[in-house]
Amino acid sequence: MRSAAGGQRAASDDGIPAHVAIIMDGNGRWATQRGKARTTGHLAGARTVRSVVEHARRTGIPVLTLYAFSADNWRRPEAEVAALMSLFRRYLAAEVSRCLENGIRISVIGRRDRLAPALVRGIEAAEAATRHCRDLRLRLAVDYSARDAIVEAARNTDGVPMTRSGFVRALALASNDLDVVPDVDLLLRTGGEQRLSDFLLWECAYAELVFTRRLWPEFTPRDLDAALLEYRRRDRRFGAIEAAAG
Ligand code: FPP
Repeated sequence: MRSAAGGQRAASDDGIPAHVAIIMDGNGRWATQRGKARTTGHLAGARTVRSVVEHARRTGIPVLTLYAFSADNWRRPEAEVAALMSLFRRYLAAEVSRCLENGIRISVIGRRDRLAPALVRGIEAAEAATRHCRDLRLRLAVDYSARDAIVEAARNTDGVPMTRSGFVRALALASNDLDVVPDVDLLLRTGGEQRLSDFLLWECAYAELVFTRRLWPEFTPRDLDAALLEYRRRDRRFGAIEAAAG
């Protein structure tokens, strides 16, 4: 099936979205409610990342993109930013072997020029080690802005025909991704807010949006199943009158 937005493959007949994207919100509130520092919430959020990634692989979701740090998150207090960056570096170092065992390929999308060299080295090492893995493509968005990626792609279309598929290739390159992934079928946001926050704006053109009040640290595999069920109930017409055939 071809989606209307970018010409990429959309969900398969089995009702599993080809690409799930998650805005992981609510770490800070989760910690504050417990009288703890916000960074404790991020640590708990990293544990949720691990369980959700494993569940996504078991479920057969081919591509999962997690919004870990937006380009606007640099405006947070220095100590919180430093704690998050350190958490990403430790997560990448710790998860490579688990990803290799489970066939999970890691990619990181977003700018790299503002990241610490040690983190960039960690990203490159994780990407290189897992490049051959095929069961799940895990993309972490770090220092990511969809609008910046679109502007960068528009700047770098030299020699690429200005078609949807040409632009999608330029967009992947602008996000530091090596190849094109399908458009987002299901966008999920935890934490009760209902906005996109500059995440995958082009890729979400026809995404089904699911919002849950659950705070990210308490989000469970069962909550992901509930979102997938909600997704399967949606009538996706891509602008037509009847649902598109697979
Ligand atoms: C938004 O919640 C969350 C973030 C900006 C950070 C997301 C990071 C993680 C889930 C940590 C681990 C990630 C990886 C990839 C290891 P918030 O802190 O803004 O929550 P609030 O709205 O309650 O303040």
